[in-house]
Amino acid sequence: MAGPPQPLSRSGPSRILRFVIIFLVALIILVGLAVLIIWLTVRPKRLSYTVESAEVHNFDMTDTQLNASFSFGVRAYNPNKRVSVYYDSITATVGFGDQDLSFGVLSPFYQPHKNEQWLNIHLNAQNFLLHDSVSKELALERSAGEMDLDLWIKARIRFKVGVWKSAHRTLRIRCSPVIVYLSKSKTFKKTTCFTEV
Ligand SMILES: *[C@@H]1O[C@H](CO)[C@@H](O)[C@H](O)[C@H]1NC(C)=O
Repeated sequence: MAGPPQPLSRSGPSRILRFVIIFLVALIILVGLAVLIIWLTVRPKRLSYTVESAEVHNFDMTDTQLNASFSFGVRAYNPNKRVSVYYDSITATVGFGDQDLSFGVLSPFYQPHKNEQWLNIHLNAQNFLLHDSVSKELALERSAGEMDLDLWIKARIRFKVGVWKSAHRTLRIRCSPVIVYLSKSKTFKKTTCFTEV
């Protein structure tokens, strides 16, 4: 004859297990709350870029070759209250149609929070070989007195929040079209750029 079943022990391993589970759940909730609070206070906003000026100088072309100097004034604005940005390397490319006309490297810089910086971008094309279709299109736009350029900026950036610094990310900025008037009578219209991090 077996005796009556033993009541489940209220002490020992099962009690420790319960404590561990409660502790882990509490820890997960606390970490979640901390992440939420940090995110709410930092609340990252998109970096903004606008082309505020664009000029083409020494423009000269044949059926196959191009000489030109391009200048762009780009306003870079960091609207964040707590996030600052390291631009560790930056390059700029000016394109027309499906051809890149010139490429250049800009100086690295640090952008604090709520800060505005001006990027003066100068790109030269000399004895540059144009694709057939690009040269035809460029000649047409030239005689019409305005050119639709594309400006691409690519940067390796890091974010800084307090003492924390993020890993490197690639920032891609596309300003298109940047309409440049070859006659001085028309005023330049700002171009807002698209960004992708
Ligand atoms: C571009 O400039 C170079 C050097 O000044 C000159 O030899 C060439 O003829 C120019 N090309 C055009 C298309 O004007």
